[in-house]
Amino acid sequence: MNKPLIAARVPAKVTLKPGTFAWCACGRSSTQPFCDGSHKGTQFTPVFFKIAEEREAWLCQCKQTKNSPYCDGTHKTL
Ligand code: FES
Repeated sequence: MNKPLIAARVPAKVTLKPGTFAWCACGRSSTQPFCDGSHKGTQFTPVFFKIAEEREAWLCQCKQTKNSPYCDGTHKTL
């Protein structure tokens, strides 16, 4: 099984408004940390998640987190 690409070795701090989001799991998206459809043809699919109230979040860009879409610190070990 291929690994996802590392888009960046730091998380992205974003402000999320209520809604549904698609986090890029393949690392190929040009609109990191969100999906732009670039996973087509790979074994990866985006991770959809819902936000009920506006909040800040640190979204993983190294794509190795065990708590997607959120950063869990794994990028520090790469
Ligand atoms: S950016 Fe991936 S775990 Fe922090």
